[in-house]
Amino acid sequence: MSPTSSNQSPKLIRSTKVLVVGLVAVIVVLGLALIMLTVGQSAPPTQTERVDALADSNEECVVCHRRTTPGIVEQYGHSSMAAAEVKCRDCHEVKSDYPGAVEHEGTYVLGSPTPAMCEKCHTAEVAQFNQSRHSLPAYVAMAGSKDLSPDLLAKYQAIPEGSFAPDKMRNALFAIEGPDVTRFACESCHNVGKPHEDGSIGECQKCHLRHEFSLEQARKPETCNACHIGPDHPQWEIYQESPHGIAYATGGHTWHWEADPGTLKVTDFPAPTCAICHMSGFGASGTTHDVGDRLTWYLFAPISERRPGWQDNQTRMQNVCRECHNNEFIETFYNEADKLTEAINAWVKESDDIVAPLKEKGLMTQEPFDEPIDFTYFELWHHWGRTAKFGAWMQGADYVQWHGAYEILSDLAELREMVKAKLHDAEAGE
Ligand code: HEC
Ligand code: HEC
Ligand code: HEC
Ligand code: HEC
Ligand code: HEC
Ligand code: HEC
Ligand code: HEC
Ligand code: HEC
Repeated sequence: MSPTSSNQSPKLIRSTKVLVVGLVAVIVVLGLALIMLTVGQSAPPTQTERVDALADSNEECVVCHRRTTPGIVEQYGHSSMAAAEVKCRDCHEVKSDYPGAVEHEGTYVLGSPTPAMCEKCHTAEVAQFNQSRHSLPAYVAMAGSKDLSPDLLAKYQAIPEGSFAPDKMRNALFAIEGPDVTRFACESCHNVGKPHEDGSIGECQKCHLRHEFSLEQARKPETCNACHIGPDHPQWEIYQESPHGIAYATGGHTWHWEADPGTLKVTDFPAPTCAICHMSGFGASGTTHDVGDRLTWYLFAPISERRPGWQDNQTRMQNVCRECHNNEFIETFYNEADKLTEAINAWVKESDDIVAPLKEKGLMTQEPFDEPIDFTYFELWHHWGRTAKFGAWMQGADYVQWHGAYEILSDLAELREMVKAKLHDAEAGE
């Protein structure tokens, strides 16, 4: 034993040496790796990069849905609500007798949570939304009010700017086209104010796409352009050609899209988006989900009238402009845009006067949208009149001129000819 043991000690020393050298090498390599890692991480994460708050979750909804609907879990995991520990159940789980409840994995859920669920935590946003034309008025504009329950009808009538709906004509289109078509047309946009079985109203997810509920996405003008587009309300196209829209298109990638609501400044947004002018807290105006809160005219109407309380609304909108433009500039702009609005009103009145003799003599059919004159008379205000007004108020010159004023003049000329021909035919006894 002893010779072997005496032999072993130099071996032991050697292997200790090897061990020490090896350890040093490992430490050096590890150290280097660590330095490289820290250097790699020293760039701050971009605003939209959030950690997955559900990465370690062992909640049953999350665990199972990571397999069945991985996209939803992945998106929700990166939302600020998940980071604030709002659970799937907070939006989805309801009692068994809740309207629309579906039995699911030992509990009851809503497949499509309504604003009643959001309201538990976001009372102010839901209340403001309910006062706006994005709520019941948007639905009634399409489907009419005849099928509303007495409770919903009372709610609708209590919205100060809600019942103003002078143009019943589009209701006719809804009926004429029928549900096979309108399911993909009117409803895609106007269901933003759809009432639900539980009595709550609207679809927050039209702007807050699930399941990220990202501020950046809601604030970007593309979100509004899902609906505010096309010949009768081309706000998106107008915005794109406005100096504000050009600033967005060319510099928007540097703006602070995730800045905390209510605190937005020109340093976050050097030019406004749709949301900045109509919704965001900016300058002296607070955040609102009532998109009518800063408007002075009913521009969508054939003949625009002032809104109730329009002076206060004007102050709120001008507070936004004032962060970037001086008072004189804003006053002049408003006076001139008011004049344009009245000029368009006068042309639309003229179209009424042109058609009046036909109406008096009963020479237009009772049916809406069944003869060419119905369309010309309608498009004159519904497409071109509105577009000219929107273009002026939101800085889109091409829309004021070639998609607006010019088309109105052309339709006025056409209407005169159509009326003359009909009167002539009637006199000739045809
Ligand atoms: C064991 C797996 C499992 C668990 C646990 C589970 N789900 Fe599901 N869930 C599913 C599957 C699978 C579907 C899809 C069913 C289908 O396609 O018809 C589904 C569908 C849904 C739907 C859509 C329902 C509809 O009618 O549109 C919702 C919402 C939902 N789950 C929420 C939850 C919530 C909230 C929890 C936790 C309380 C949960 N799930 C727990 C597997 C699960
Ligand atoms: C802040 C509220 C909220 C939370 C939290 C939430 N959801 Fe949803 N979820 C919604 C809304 C709103 C819809 C309906 C969207 C629609 O109808 O377009 C929905 C729809 C769904 C659907 C049906 C989607 C489809 O396309 O069929 C499933 C499944 C679902 N959620 C699962 C989950 C799971 C799982 C979680 C948790 C990881 C979760 N949700 C968390 C609000 C929420
Ligand atoms: C259980 C309470 C709860 C429910 C239910 C709830 N939320 Fe939230 N929500 C929160 C909290 C808490 C935050 C704050 C997260 C933060 O700012 O860190 C939040 C933040 C938000 C934000 C701002 C996100 C951001 O990045 O600042 C939006 C948008 C939002 N919620 C929409 C909704 C919608 C839409 C619904 C209904 C479909 C809903 N929430 C349901 C609690 C809730
Ligand atoms: C692409 C989305 C979209 C589609 C499709 C659409 N609308 Fe609209 N509609 C809007 C928007 C946006 C406004 C708001 C214009 C404004 O306020 O300046 C509006 C305004 C209206 C108005 C005037 C507002 C009011 O309350 O009187 C009526 C009426 C109307 N739409 C009915 C309809 C009908 C009926 C259909 C289908 C035949 C339809 N819309 C299809 C988006 C749409
Ligand atoms: C027309 C689009 C639109 C609709 C519809 C909408 N939101 Fe929003 N929401 C926004 C925008 C834009 C913001 C960001 C406002 C800002 O810039 O500060 C926002 C912000 C929010 C926030 C964060 C507000 C804060 O001050 O922290 C909550 C919460 C929220 N929305 C809830 C809801 C709920 C609940 C509904 C449905 C009743 C809803 N939203 C419907 C566009 C919308
Ligand atoms: C899902 C479709 C949809 C989306 C998305 C949408 N809107 Fe609307 N919006 C409508 C409809 C429909 C109306 C017309 C309601 C009415 O007057 O009947 C409307 C009306 C308005 C009005 C006029 C309100 C009034 O009192 O006359 C403003 C301003 C507005 N929207 C701004 C926005 C902004 C800003 C966004 C994006 C942040 C947005 N909308 C996103 C459908 C939408
Ligand atoms: C620079 C601020 C600004 C921007 C950006 C802006 N708007 Fe407007 N918007 C206005 C003003 C001002 C009016 C007219 C207000 C009035 O009636 O006094 C208006 C009117 C409207 C109306 C008409 C409401 C009615 O009475 O029929 C709608 C709808 C609307 N805007 C939506 C949008 C959408 C969608 C976008 C983005 C694509 C947008 N706006 C961008 C300032 C803005
Ligand atoms: C966050 C800053 C900001 C806000 C808020 C803002 N604007 Fe502007 N606006 C700009 C910038 C930047 C330009 C481009 C200036 C230039 O031409 O150099 C501009 C240009 C304009 C122009 C000139 C249009 C042209 O064709 O030359 C008008 C008119 C205008 N804005 C009106 C408004 C009105 C009205 C409001 C409020 C409803 C408003 N702006 C809000 C930043 C803003």
